[in-house]
Amino acid sequence: MADTLRNFVLTMAMSRPTSFAAFKKLHVISLVASLAILSILYTFWGGGLSSISNSNEHYSSGVPTLSNPFNHDGMHTKAAPADTEEYVAFCVAHRNQVRDIPEFLTHHYHHHGIRRFYIMDDRSSPPLSSFNDWGIPRSAVSFQYYDKNAQYPNMQTHIYSECQRLYGSLHSWIAYIDADEFFETRGGETLPSILREFDKDESVGALGVNWRLHSSANLTTRPESMRQSFTSCPIDPENIPDGEIQGWKDNRLIKSIVKTALFEKPLTPHLFKTVNGTRTVGEHGDVIEYGDGVRQPITRERIGLHHYTVKSREQFEEKTKNWSMKGWEYWDHIEGLPQVQCDEMTKYKP
Ligand SMILES: *[C@@H]1O[C@H](CO)[C@@H](O)[C@H](O)[C@H]1NC(C)=O
Ligand SMILES: *[C@@H]1O[C@H](CO)[C@@H](O)[C@H](O)[C@H]1NC(C)=O
Ligand SMILES: *[C@@H]1O[C@H](CO)[C@@H](O)[C@H](O)[C@H]1NC(C)=O
Repeated sequence: MADTLRNFVLTMAMSRPTSFAAFKKLHVISLVASLAILSILYTFWGGGLSSISNSNEHYSSGVPTLSNPFNHDGMHTKAAPADTEEYVAFCVAHRNQVRDIPEFLTHHYHHHGIRRFYIMDDRSSPPLSSFNDWGIPRSAVSFQYYDKNAQYPNMQTHIYSECQRLYGSLHSWIAYIDADEFFETRGGETLPSILREFDKDESVGALGVNWRLHSSANLTTRPESMRQSFTSCPIDPENIPDGEIQGWKDNRLIKSIVKTALFEKPLTPHLFKTVNGTRTVGEHGDVIEYGDGVRQPITRERIGLHHYTVKSREQFEEKTKNWSMKGWEYWDHIEGLPQVQCDEMTKYKP
């Protein structure tokens, strides 16, 4: 509709009025067009969002549609500067779970200025690219599909190598995270502003950011916004030597944002090998040891990665159905840890 309107306005603007009547007609038409544009803007930024706030039904019969369900009551936190040169891109391996994606995109688009998201679609049915409304301009999202004939034993790290191979030359950094992970920065920094600082240090190949896991906060059904709703977090585990960690590594784990010029290969989905002896460092420039991607002591003074690892009971149930890696013992583990209130992400709107 916006396109039709744009073409219409352009056509009108280009046609020369040959008489007074035509001139008058043009004025009336411009007025109507302006009003239409204003009403579209209003729908986008204000009133319109409330009309789709109760959108539990995202799949309408046959036609893939997807609405952005954030009920942000008109409040906006300050938007981050747009990374229009696409200095940093995100590489996200994903299957189905289409409703989780708009909040992820919205968050990083507005609050970190990210303008390039590669959604690496591992056998979704229907393909994720068949959906339209992602909550951010469609032009910022690129899709790549992997069907059953394009499978590798370690699909996630295979996909990460593909992101570097296909898109590495277009960006300075690529962040390798999942759609249930959200960056939080403090002190007026954003992800790109922090990365620009580490760009200057030639010994740095990647930045590793500690997780902040979120538990279900006792929610049984899917809330509209993860950031506004899952405000209960397991406390950080104590420092113990890597070799002595038993079981889940939880918040000790990092995810990586890698300099494309120094990329060598993923070691795990968490930690990458970078060339020439360059290393992955934490937010304070501390070197992260090779291994599973554990960073201790855990700090998130400048940047943290909030991980909605179980979500609500309903969502976890849905996930376990198609996900062999973790079952209910993982739910019990996360929910059983000592918890604290964690409201950090509620500051972000939309
Ligand atoms: C689980 O997989 C089945 C078939 O493989 C698919 O129809 C269904 O949509 C999937 N569910 C989720 C939540 O991904
Ligand atoms: C969840 O339920 C447990 C058991 O009733 C309670 O102790 C805990 O405080 C609740 N947590 C939240 C975040 O409401
Ligand atoms: C690695 O180091 C060698 C020797 O110092 C240098 O010639 C080369 O350009 C470096 N490679 C990268 C990707 O920085």
